Amino acid sequence: MKNIILVAGATGDLGSRLCKHLLKNGAGVRALVRAETNQEKINELRESGVEIVTVSFEDEAGLVSACKGVSCVVSVLAGLREVIVTAQSQLLQAAVQAGVPRFIPSDFCTDFTQLQAGENRNFDLRKEFQFVLETSDIRATSVFNGAFAYVLQYDIPLLDTKAMTITYYSGKADWQIDFTSLEDTAAFTARAALDNTTPRFLRIAGFQISPIELAALTGRIFGEHFELKDQGTLEQFSAYIQKVRTENPAGENQLYPQWQQMQYLYSMFAAHHLTLDNNRYPGLNWQTVETTLQEINNNKTAQNGAGI
Ligand SMILES: NC(=O)c1ccc[n+]([C@@H]2O[C@H](COP(=O)([O-])OP(=O)(O)OC[C@H]3O[C@@H](n4cnc5c(N)ncnc54)[C@H](OP(=O)(O)O)[C@@H]3O)[C@@H](O)[C@H]2O)c1
Repeated sequence: MKNIILVAGATGDLGSRLCKHLLKNGAGVRALVRAETNQEKINELRESGVEIVTVSFEDEAGLVSACKGVSCVVSVLAGLREVIVTAQSQLLQAAVQAGVPRFIPSDFCTDFTQLQAGENRNFDLRKEFQFVLETSDIRATSVFNGAFAYVLQYDIPLLDTKAMTITYYSGKADWQIDFTSLEDTAAFTARAALDNTTPRFLRIAGFQISPIELAALTGRIFGEHFELKDQGTLEQFSAYIQKVRTENPAGENQLYPQWQQMQYLYSMFAAHHLTLDNNRYPGLNWQTVETTLQEINNNKTAQNGAGI
């Protein structure tokens, strides 16, 4: 009999890829969508073979019914407290009531178990939900993938192709930072969802690279020199983030305000994977740093050519 995997957040960037990989691995896929979810995205999922269940997270009976017969619930929801703590708790309770044995929460980030409360607001919400999860009668597995590889294309201080700089924090020039592509994270998570022997945490990285290594590689791939910049200590960065946060109270209601993006950068330099579970499933091909940088360089060249 087919395993049925329930996906919450199936219309999202990671969610739509996850559904595709689950189907490829022979799973039955049921997607939870909301009345307000984009209809075009729902149609795409339906046409690919995903069963659609439209339900409000407030509708306890509807959620329990959606969870019936499911072997694993995977949440790939994105949001603040009302999503990560409230909606995920509603979904979790329904899964427990329906007798679902396993739950994968929407973590998909740097290993926040290595970070202190207050260091990253969005990770603190995940920790809060983790407490709910661990006191529930269900087996949980979190996937930690570091940063999505695509963040390197945004000219963040770590790799700024406009300023031609690579920023690091004092003593961290050789610190290995974890990156995984969206596609690889989805492919791995699909396998984990179908594997009922997973441990509490799975750690993956398509590639791990330090600022020094990044400078050498970007120089080769872009054919230009990137300057390595010591931006001071992580403690100084943390104090600066706190100052920006205090001055921008509106950001408390935004998912990715500027100070939250800085907290992600801080987290990349404060936590990393010491062991990887990449080889847990055979047949996965991980996107390399070379491919990632080559794509960024190609886009940059195309934009320059188009006069952007
Ligand atoms: N490690 C990294 O670098 C990195 C970067 C980005 C994201 N992430 C993480 O990856 C995971 C997936 O993110 P994503 O980028 O794929 O997100 P996304 O594309 O924004 O998709 C989010 C999904 O959540 C659903 N959703 C949003 N608000 C909701 C609500 N109030 N109630 C119910 N559903 C709601 C959306 O459904 P509707 O279509 O109905 O709105 C959508 O399907 C998240 O945990 C996110 O934090 C990690």
